[in-house]
Amino acid sequence: ERQRIAQEIHDEALQTLLVVANKLDSLTANAPEDGRAEGIRWAKEKLAGTMDDLRRLSMNLRPNILDHFGLVAGIRWVVDNAGQSSCRFTTLVRGEAPAMSNITEVTAFRVVQEAVRNIHKHAMAKNASVTLEFDTDHLVIEVQDDGVGFVVKRPFEYAEQNRLGIIGMEQRILAIGGTMVLESTPGSGTRLRATLPYQASNQFVQVEQTPL
Ligand SMILES: Nc1ncnc2c1ncn2[C@@H]1O[C@H](COP(=O)(O)OP(=O)(O)O)[C@@H](O)[C@H]1O
Ligand SMILES: [Mg+2]
Repeated sequence: ERQRIAQEIHDEALQTLLVVANKLDSLTANAPEDGRAEGIRWAKEKLAGTMDDLRRLSMNLRPNILDHFGLVAGIRWVVDNAGQSSCRFTTLVRGEAPAMSNITEVTAFRVVQEAVRNIHKHAMAKNASVTLEFDTDHLVIEVQDDGVGFVVKRPFEYAEQNRLGIIGMEQRILAIGGTMVLESTPGSGTRLRATLPYQASNQFVQVEQTPL
């Protein structure tokens, strides 16, 4: 249920607000400098604040599966159940999962979930792999596919098209002080590498990529 709500907030509410935000943007672009422009700016600020609140809310909702199965089995489950293309997935685990922050586990789960969904949805891959490497103080996640690949764009370009998967992954990761590298070459597959600190909090959610 929590997962459904989080997904709903992410897919429905935030998508709609993003469309509204872009609409407001286009209004200010050619608006005369009068009281209305001021009003639109005010509305944009309020909207940006609400979008951040919702993002934080959906980010923090912990999928039940993590409580039932734990991180590694939960991720194995999501790899096996996040889509239904004919791509064959392999999950590899190096090391043992230490105790870590709730937000780190949720972020790892969500990142793998979106990366796997993207492979099913876009990659037309034959094979893909998910590797979890438990280092000293970081979890390193690698998701790789041998599919069609694509030209990786700047985050705002995805925002303009209301594509929020890659942006969402990056925001989650940066919010907890992690790093993300996404590499893709048309014709030869895609590779995502994320490094997440075990000890993290997301009280400093950075909002740099908010498309306003
Ligand atoms: N593994 C992948 N293989 C090929 N293309 C991909 C892959 N992941 C993402 N893409 C491309 O990047 C775009 C943006 O992805 P994303 O932000 O998740 O949005 P969405 O999945 O909603 O389209 C996708 O529309 C697709 O063109
Ligand atoms: Mg996606």
